[in-house]
Amino acid sequence: MEGAGAGWPEPVVRVQSLSESGAATIPDRYVKPEAERPAAAGAGGATAEGIPVVDLSSPSDPATARAVSEACRDWGFFQAVNHGVPPELLRRARGVWRGFFRQPTEVKQRYANSPATYEGYGSRLGVEKGAVLDWGDYYFLHVRPPHLFDPDKWPHLPPDLRETTEEYSREVAALCGRLMTAMSLGLGAGPSRLQEAFGGAEGAGVCVRVNYYPRCPQPELTLGLSSHSDPGGMTVLLADDRVRGLQVRRRGAWVTVDPVPDAFIVNVGDQIQVLTNATYRSVEHRVTVNAAEERLSVALFYNPRSDLPLAPMPELVSPERPSLYSPMTFDEYRLYIRRKGPRGKSQVESLKATAVGAAR
Ligand code: OGA
Ligand code: NI
Repeated sequence: MEGAGAGWPEPVVRVQSLSESGAATIPDRYVKPEAERPAAAGAGGATAEGIPVVDLSSPSDPATARAVSEACRDWGFFQAVNHGVPPELLRRARGVWRGFFRQPTEVKQRYANSPATYEGYGSRLGVEKGAVLDWGDYYFLHVRPPHLFDPDKWPHLPPDLRETTEEYSREVAALCGRLMTAMSLGLGAGPSRLQEAFGGAEGAGVCVRVNYYPRCPQPELTLGLSSHSDPGGMTVLLADDRVRGLQVRRRGAWVTVDPVPDAFIVNVGDQIQVLTNATYRSVEHRVTVNAAEERLSVALFYNPRSDLPLAPMPELVSPERPSLYSPMTFDEYRLYIRRKGPRGKSQVESLKATAVGAAR
């Protein structure tokens, strides 16, 4: 591969090509500092406790709102069952994207992305030269709002990928609408209050990131995706149906998620933490890889209207619980992870520092 290419600081190397080369060791670029490796303190170990499982069969029921709210306060993560998206569509979505990553390199390269928008086929997050990289490739797409939908950025192969991804994102975005209602009721607010604070359903952003984690000859030295919290509103993840890998930070330890078949994994993003004045928490998570099997996941990000400055909802601010965050638009906010790559919860924490500073 020649040249750094389209705005990246270094030549882009596809992790899939490293994996398929059959090398027994991984390049230094992927070796994490010891404290971040999968077996460092706090990692592994069997935990009796897993993330909560929430039944969404009656989404506007007070009991559902309570269960969602409890999970968002306590864990920042839950598995949603009876969510209303047909299992057959989940299988098709996984199938078309497995099909994409199996296309020849030349086909995938046509969609190579750049850090300007990140849309397309990518292999890193962040543009810092010399950064330690993650063991994963991905495909990133904007679905909504309509002016960001660009069919030229969508793969043409396999042939049913577009239609399936559109149907999938329509269904999952509708599920996000139902989750927004439950989350709003769970705050003691009206059913559409949180959606209003987001800037309304029409302005909401929907992006899809398909993660492809190839087999790794030295999984103990690296991560598929470094610790981060999701910058947007909420995330609905379709995890691999066979291979585990997602870990959630819980009281300093890493808890491996054991996906329930056909469930979604839902988590709170930084923007909902900000809007709820940290009543709901965005929680750090990461992905481990393994030597035996590749892993595929489909993350749908449901984001607030991107040009609206977001700050805690006034009804969640009081003298006893002052506003923790200074206002910022999501357009501005997302530039941080796009430049620096995944860095735990450092960004949302930095908003806090400025709010405290401003109050002084
Ligand atoms: C993400 C993410 C988890 C996974 O894409 O933000 O956290 O299991 N993915 O791939
Ligand atoms: Ni994430």
